[in-house]
Amino acid sequence: MNRESPVAVFDSGVGGLSVFREIVRLLPGEDVLYFADTTHCPYGSRSLEEIQRLSSGIAEFLIEQGAKILVVACNTASAAALQYLRGRFDLSIVGMEPAVKPAAERTKSGVIGVLATSATFQGELFSSLLDRYAQGVKVIPQICPGLVEQVEGGNLVGAETESMLRQYLDPLLAQGADQLVLGCTHYPFLIPTIQRIVGDGVQIIDPSPAVARRTKQVLEERGLLNPRREGGRYTFYTTGDGDIFDGMLKRLASVEGPVKKPCWERGRLEI
Ligand code: DGL
Repeated sequence: MNRESPVAVFDSGVGGLSVFREIVRLLPGEDVLYFADTTHCPYGSRSLEEIQRLSSGIAEFLIEQGAKILVVACNTASAAALQYLRGRFDLSIVGMEPAVKPAAERTKSGVIGVLATSATFQGELFSSLLDRYAQGVKVIPQICPGLVEQVEGGNLVGAETESMLRQYLDPLLAQGADQLVLGCTHYPFLIPTIQRIVGDGVQIIDPSPAVARRTKQVLEERGLLNPRREGGRYTFYTTGDGDIFDGMLKRLASVEGPVKKPCWERGRLEI
C-alpha cells in the first residue's frame, strides 16, 4: 500500500454514504472504495458474532483491492467488530461510536437521546461510552426498527417514515432530551424530517464530519495522505442489486461511479 492507494469505506448498505460524502468533501484527491453489504442489511438485528464474520470478509476483500485504510462507516459493525478487525488486520481502521461525549458536553437539560440499532447498544462500546462520558447525564437509548429499511428503500420522507420517527422520538422529547445523537449512519439522511419533528430546541448530532476528520488525521500521521488535491475516483461494491444501489448513490451522495458485484462473481465472500 502507498499514498496513492484507495481509502476503503464500508457499511451494511447505503448508510455509510453519509460518511463517504464527508470524506470526499474533505479529501477530494483520494480514491475511495465503498462497499455496501446490501444483501445482509440490516446488520442491527444480527448477532455480534455474525456481524464480525460479515465485517471480516468485507475487510479482507477491500484489503485485496489495495485499501490503505479501512473506515467502518457503520456504528453497528463498529460496536460488534472493531476490536476484532483491529486484531486480525494489519492496516489502520477508523470506526464509529455514538457521539455521547459531545452531547454530554452540550446538554442543558441533562437528557440525551441516542438513536441506534439494538446491536450497537448491546456491544461493550456503548456501556463504556456511558461510563466515560455520561456521568450525571441521563442517556436514553432508542432502537428504531424499520428505519434502516426505509432509508434503503429511498423513503426519506413520507407518512410512513414520519410516523415511525414520531414513535421513536416522542418518548425522548417527553423526557426532556435536548440532544439527539444519530448513532446509525443511515439516519443523517432523515435529518430534515427529524428536525421538523423535534423542533429547534433539540440539537441533532451527526458524527460523520468528525469521522472524516479522523480519517484525514490518521492518513497524515501514517504518511498516507494522497498528495493529489482533486480528482479522486470512486468505485462502489454491493452484494445486492447494482442498479438500485446506483440510483441511491446519485440521490444520497450526488456521485456516480462504477457499481460492481465482485463478491458473487468471484465467489470469495461466503456471505
Ligand atoms: N448503518 C448502520 C449503522 O450505522 C447499520 C444499520 C443496520 O444495518 O442495521 O449502525
